[in-house]
Amino acid sequence: MSFSSFELLDQSKPILVFGRDGQVGRALQVCLRDLKVPAVFLGRSDCDLSNEFSIREVLNRYQPQVIVNAAAYTAVDRAESEREAAFAINAQAPQVMAHYMANVAHGIFVHYSTDYVFADTKKTPYLETDITGPMEQLCIYGQSKLAGEQAIQKVFALAQGSQDVSDQNEDSRYYILRTSWVYGDGGNFIKTMLRLASERDEIKVVADQIGVPSSATWLAEIGVQLAGSRVESGIYHAVPDGETSWHGLALFAIETAAEEGEGIEVKSENILPIPAADYPLPAKRPYNSRMSNQKLKKALSDMAFTGQYPRWQEQVATYIKEYVKASLKS
Ligand SMILES: NC(=O)c1ccc[n+]([C@@H]2O[C@H](COP(=O)([O-])OP(=O)(O)OC[C@H]3O[C@@H](n4cnc5c(N)ncnc54)[C@H](OP(=O)(O)O)[C@@H]3O)[C@@H](O)[C@H]2O)c1
Repeated sequence: MSFSSFELLDQSKPILVFGRDGQVGRALQVCLRDLKVPAVFLGRSDCDLSNEFSIREVLNRYQPQVIVNAAAYTAVDRAESEREAAFAINAQAPQVMAHYMANVAHGIFVHYSTDYVFADTKKTPYLETDITGPMEQLCIYGQSKLAGEQAIQKVFALAQGSQDVSDQNEDSRYYILRTSWVYGDGGNFIKTMLRLASERDEIKVVADQIGVPSSATWLAEIGVQLAGSRVESGIYHAVPDGETSWHGLALFAIETAAEEGEGIEVKSENILPIPAADYPLPAKRPYNSRMSNQKLKKALSDMAFTGQYPRWQEQVATYIKEYVKASLKS
């Protein structure tokens, strides 16, 4: 990876990372420590993002030149009954961060967002330029994340005296990385499937929702890569190549784990596809979560990024191998 523009930054001001204990936050800790980039990692006990005063206090204390916000209210179903908390953390908190960074010379704000900002208005992969929402068709989590994206864009546009959010290269920049189906160090769908596969002889998994599994390790690297770049501010869809259903992901993960020697009870033919309608949940999920990654690929090639762009299967296989190695050790 190339981090040339980090040299232009004031190294006495560490990168401020919110969401230290989440999947992407943990991956950011590994990534930034490996790169020996000075960083401060904040968890909930250091800064409660539902409290604006607490956010302002840490911003004033650390005066960062780069913020990476990996924190979010991610309890998608609970958000249906905790609208205020979801909006405080996913919309108001990033707005406060963005307001701070938009007014710092050469400040950089990296923020993660979600496929849940789209409401099945398309059957093909969404582009960054596609219309989001409509709000009333999104679940509360999706609404709050979309409100966060919109607040960030508005704050940067206003701070730079322009409604044209693409015209900001000379000044502070923001990167909103929309991703989907994240797995890493923390609770996630893949781990749930591997647990069920070791306990049951039949599993039913939703097969009519399509998306792209994304590794937290990779998402951390992409966030850091963009923070150290000079590419244009804006929204980037950060997902690997390929697509699958939850059923396809479960099958792939369980078969890979079995090949690696994990104790698996269920046979592949007993991992049964079901429609989402048979597995009702409080929050509405999109059927089509596919997002085009062409813009991100172009940005990476502009940064002279030489690594191979990943397919989801390679990332999941690597994750499963590490998971099985750790579980065989314990
Ligand atoms: N997970 C997915 O499948 C998925 C899909 C698409 C997009 N995304 C986006 O990707 C980003 C990273 O997701 P993730 O999977 O890494 O999330 P995660 O594992 O749920 O981590 C979120 C972190 O936010 C922290 N947080 C929540 N409320 C807070 C508060 N009031 N004050 C301070 N910290 C708070 C949590 O703290 P505690 O550890 O103390 O609870 C947690 O460490 C998020 O922006 C998310 O919206 C995730």
